[in-house]
Amino acid sequence: MFQNQQITKDTFYVGVNDRQKNKFENMIPLPCGVSYNSYLIIDQKIALIDTVDISMGDIFIDKIQSQLEGRVLDYLVINHMEPDHSGSIRLIRKYYPDLVIIGNSKTLSMLDGFYGVDTLTKEIKDGEILSLGTHKLEFHFTPMVHWPETMMTYDQTTKVLFSGDAFGSFGTLDGTVMDTNLNVERYWDEMIRYYANIVGKYGAPVQKALQKLTNVDFEIICSTHGPVWKEYVSEVVDIYDQMSRYEGKEGVVIVYGSMYGFTELMAETVAQGVSQAGIKDVIIHNVSKSDSSVILQDIFKYRGLIVGSPTYSNELYPEVESLLRKIEIRGIKNRMFGYFGSFTWAGASVKRLSTFVETMKWETAEISVEEKQGLKADNYQACLDLGRQVAKMVKRPVVKKEHC
Ligand code: FEO
Repeated sequence: MFQNQQITKDTFYVGVNDRQKNKFENMIPLPCGVSYNSYLIIDQKIALIDTVDISMGDIFIDKIQSQLEGRVLDYLVINHMEPDHSGSIRLIRKYYPDLVIIGNSKTLSMLDGFYGVDTLTKEIKDGEILSLGTHKLEFHFTPMVHWPETMMTYDQTTKVLFSGDAFGSFGTLDGTVMDTNLNVERYWDEMIRYYANIVGKYGAPVQKALQKLTNVDFEIICSTHGPVWKEYVSEVVDIYDQMSRYEGKEGVVIVYGSMYGFTELMAETVAQGVSQAGIKDVIIHNVSKSDSSVILQDIFKYRGLIVGSPTYSNELYPEVESLLRKIEIRGIKNRMFGYFGSFTWAGASVKRLSTFVETMKWETAEISVEEKQGLKADNYQACLDLGRQVAKMVKRPVVKKEHC
């Protein structure tokens, strides 16, 4: 019944859209949904590349069966074991009990650990090739993009790279899967949000993987999330390269917490200073309102960051503290930083922000601003100066670093 979308002559998309789930990994909002991508290669032997979240298992099986017309699966290649891709393995095994599951040693260990599956498996080595007949599948291990077992599968015959999470994006695939047939503009920010939140900690492994891929002549990228990239391959690789180098664009993100508007007024003033110094991309986030996944997306996107916080119970405002922790976990590098804060009777937030930036080892504006209660003229001016100073740092030419 299903007409699966064709990627090449005998490679088909059998993935699914998830418009039901509210939060990816039960944390990250999905306003545009997400796709779990899976692919079939039909040759003398038939290989399925990755599976989908088990919540969509029924439709997944229907799509595969529609394409196979009575034939059976010979192989299941697992590029990544996170359950949004491995969740349907046991179901697939029930329908195709003789299929051989292909993975590396870490994959097969997780396969047993998660699902108790330890029979009819084949362990492959880095660089090994599996022949399906005409198609030759070459395996490239790319650990920590996004888990230790992650690998990519390259079809030498069609020059298709099945890349796992790499080059993935949030956002469903509406009516088509190929970038050539859709307006890709809606995916760029969702790709950065996906990267920042899911892969963001693993800049160095992503750089290693990109280095490895310079020897792989791929023309099409089939990721596990988001569009199939054919026309925009170089743009997509560039985005992953920039993100994994932590190379932000010219722009300043100002994040603040505020209970009654006093710290917010400081943020507005700092923003004015940034703008006066000629920065066009100034993005203000109220940490209590903007989702942290979007704030992280913008922090990955731009190289200027200014954080403001009131003092709360002799600590940072908790929502700001929570965001700082997310930044620390990701080890974001090379940001130009500034900070400000406020208090009512005893200041603590500015001190904590200065400790934070020492940990991050970022270049920091000489000026920081700390106000007691309402904003007054001298600190109004200091906020403008803080904004101008960070803007000046951001506007300096960037020296491109080779690798992390
Ligand atoms: Fe889409 Fe790391 O799983």
